[in-house]
Amino acid sequence: MDLDQLDPDRIPTHVALVMDGNGRWAQRRGLPRTDGHAAGEEALLDTVRGALDAGIRWITVYAFSTENWKRPAEEVRFLMGFNERLLLGRRDELHEKGVKVQFIGRRDWRVPRRVLRHITETEEMTKDNKVMTLSLAFNYGGRAELVDAVNSILEDGVKPGKVTERTIRKHLYDPSMPDPELMVRTSGEYRISNYLLWQLAYSELVFTDVLWPDFRREDLFDAIGQYQQRERRFGGIENTG
Ligand code: IPE
Ligand code: IPE
Ligand code: MG
Repeated sequence: MDLDQLDPDRIPTHVALVMDGNGRWAQRRGLPRTDGHAAGEEALLDTVRGALDAGIRWITVYAFSTENWKRPAEEVRFLMGFNERLLLGRRDELHEKGVKVQFIGRRDWRVPRRVLRHITETEEMTKDNKVMTLSLAFNYGGRAELVDAVNSILEDGVKPGKVTERTIRKHLYDPSMPDPELMVRTSGEYRISNYLLWQLAYSELVFTDVLWPDFRREDLFDAIGQYQQRERRFGGIENTG
């Protein structure tokens, strides 16, 4: 689908993506799984550029889950280094385009120190950018985020009975992040896989068979086209918004 086929008044503010299917993409070509991850870089860049053209303000992508540590050490090592190289290689372009790049996830001992340093540097470099926020969910788990939120609420000394939905939101990794109106998962898997559990409560879900390395801006626009056909009710009975 082309951008001009979309309703410009109903472009989602925030689109969350699960970049899945890199391993299968590579396997189908007789390549090592890691080549699939590498091929996903172009998909991400094209998607972000398309999102900028569409005027989307927030993009969040699932880059590495808290469960992905279960993979073979070699693949984990590749993914750590790959995300770091992607960051270093693309941050100037993203910065020029006014993209604020941030990481959501656990910055724990398992993430190599150098990768953490580059994450902090990139966040610092792009922190005042206003065109779009690109959040990389890295060492991210929705349950881990909620556990971290609860611990941080307790540390603040909030009394039992005083916790509200607002309290929880304030303690998420990025309290200013609006809930995604749309979540897109590639590769024909129909799961959430521990992604943005709190934030996806009322998101429209779109699943596509396209494998992530083949995903391009047109696929993003297709997903937005599907989203624009949906009627969002939020538990009410008619679409008033
Ligand atoms: C998604 O692709 C990337 C990460 C999870 C890091 P996969 O590596 O999960 O690819 P498949 O699902 O095995 O094809
Ligand atoms: C979800 O994909 C995580 C990322 C895309 C980073 P997975 O491939 O890890 O999810 P499952 O194992 O199929 O649920
Ligand atoms: Mg997968």
